Amino acid sequence: MQLIYQLRGLITTFFYRWVIRPLVFLWEAEKAHNKLKQFGLIFASNRFGRRLLKILFYYKHSSLNTMVDGINYDNPIGLSAGFDKDGELTDAYPLTGFGFAELGSFTGDVCPGNPGVGRRLFRLIKSKSILVWYGLNNQGAEAIAKRLQGKEFNIPIGINTAKTNNSVNFVLQISIDDYLKTVNEFSNIGHYYTINISCPNTQDGEPFVNRENLEALLSALDEVKQENKPLYIKIAADLATDEVDTIVDTCLQYKVDGLVLTNLAKPSMSNEYLKEELTFDKGALSGLPVQRLSTNVVRHVYQRTRGKITIIGVGGVFNADDAYEKITSGANLIEMVTGMIFEGPQVIGEINRGLVKLLKKDGFSSIEEAVGSRNPLKQV
Ligand SMILES: Cc1cc2nc3c(=O)[nH]c(=O)nc-3n(C[C@H](O)[C@H](O)[C@H](O)COP(=O)(O)O)c2cc1C
Repeated sequence: MQLIYQLRGLITTFFYRWVIRPLVFLWEAEKAHNKLKQFGLIFASNRFGRRLLKILFYYKHSSLNTMVDGINYDNPIGLSAGFDKDGELTDAYPLTGFGFAELGSFTGDVCPGNPGVGRRLFRLIKSKSILVWYGLNNQGAEAIAKRLQGKEFNIPIGINTAKTNNSVNFVLQISIDDYLKTVNEFSNIGHYYTINISCPNTQDGEPFVNRENLEALLSALDEVKQENKPLYIKIAADLATDEVDTIVDTCLQYKVDGLVLTNLAKPSMSNEYLKEELTFDKGALSGLPVQRLSTNVVRHVYQRTRGKITIIGVGGVFNADDAYEKITSGANLIEMVTGMIFEGPQVIGEINRGLVKLLKKDGFSSIEEAVGSRNPLKQV
């Protein structure tokens, strides 16, 4: 069977790299994103398409099962927020081999995002990155929740929540109410919440990096969140260490279940891309330029929290080694977007297959055993 998986991986990788990707990359990036979602919907909507997705991409292995905050994951590789901003493709993800999927970001009100529809994403091909200037476009919590209500998901689903990007003026209570609206709309949909306080493309900045604002938000969330639904906070890749520490300490104080590390990085905060590929003066970078930054944040937060709260590691995961580095640095789960776009959907199964080998090589029988193994807790 392993030989068949290996062969399948070689063929699908070759086909994506040399046939599908060159065609997809002919489209402007935002158009390509929409087209890929349309193809996903078509495949997931009929029996033949679903079977094909499973044959081409699905992979399962018992050593990848992991339990995090009471939720059982078949494998630790999930889709990160931003690919499925309206929560439309939940039938496709389990078939492609994802262990979970984070939808959104969803906002309290309908949000068209930043101006320039059709020109808000830019590929940096050599740098393996995407410059994102979406600004949280989505159909709004109410409409999306109505559509997803009562739907059965075959894998854990994260509900990523952000504040509607509709004003340059930050008003604390209005912002908190906006988050609460989404959390309430999704009270019986999905398995965990991610509170995104780190969108780099909003008009009013990132006001919840401030301790008092974050305390007010966490205290309000504490009132409405459900007992059995973990709540995670997602932070930026390029914060100063003392800003990270303030957020982490506040999260510990309010018994937040974990952190999603990290969101995008502003171009000025990363050196790991080719400057000549940057053709637009707004937005923030995903992919390879975020890889090292986010792993460093994972390592730091794992030490600071003494491994006591959940870490979802995200940023520049393109293969099993990248995922394993984040896990052994302290991440319990991994998310990805850019890797899937650059490498193809077969990369999900290939990463999982690679993780099985890496666990075995290091003598681990589960993901849990590997978490933080190359970042041993320092004596305090
Ligand atoms: C096109 C695109 C849109 C994104 N939109 C969101 C979003 O709405 N909410 C969010 O929390 N993160 C968003 N992100 C950030 C990703 O979830 C992720 O944190 C970041 O891209 C790093 O992971 P990657 O290198 O695997 O892409 C977006 C990323 C991309 C590429």
